[in-house]
Amino acid sequence: MTNESTNKATNQSTNIQWHDGEVTREDRAKVLGHKGCTLWLTGLSGSGKSTVGVALEQVLNARGVLAYRLDGDNVRHGLNANLGFGADDRTENIRRIGEVAKLFADAGVVTISSFISPYQKDRDQVRKIHEDAGLTFLEVFINTPIEICEQRDPKGLYKKARAGEIKGFTGIDDPYEVPVNPEIEVKTGELGVEEAANQLVEALQESGIVRR
Ligand code: ADX
Repeated sequence: MTNESTNKATNQSTNIQWHDGEVTREDRAKVLGHKGCTLWLTGLSGSGKSTVGVALEQVLNARGVLAYRLDGDNVRHGLNANLGFGADDRTENIRRIGEVAKLFADAGVVTISSFISPYQKDRDQVRKIHEDAGLTFLEVFINTPIEICEQRDPKGLYKKARAGEIKGFTGIDDPYEVPVNPEIEVKTGELGVEEAANQLVEALQESGIVRR
């Protein structure tokens, strides 16, 4: 389904060398007072990924933690404006954002990424690049039944997809692979936004990223 070559990003650049700086990740953590990491929010359109991400960013900011959101709709306005919603483009979308998230996490930022990221293989690849770099990666399944997402339909997109005006819409006529083993599952159908954000703050505390 997904294209192995885009997923692995065959390296077209030759004669390149990694150049280390003199300031380490630990040095940056001392400046900020905390380590960086990536919280990877995955779920259907309308599941609440962006809403929970916005609330979490606010709570962390109020606690003096540097957090930053990477959000599907926003990133597709700029960095990923040249990508559509076919399987290969979704894979490339996630590959690029995975790399960006890793850079932010390395910089010391608590990175909150909100993308449907429908394929387990792509999410696993993002996990791998974080873990290989010694960075904390938390997969967060924003588990909201499609019936609720469709009822909410904040952007009117489910209605369009049902009417056949959008082809290949996730959950309607395009797949969403439910996370196999996420660190955290947020049931936004049962929890309020604030409770959901608090659940994630607790997970960050347990991971030793944020102080209690
Ligand atoms: S992903 O599948 O590549 O991870 P991403 O999170 O960047 O998707 O973007 C999803 C957002 O794009 C949705 O919330 C919705 O607003 C919009 N969108 C437009 N077309 C589609 C589609 N065919 N499937 C899903 N979302 C779509």
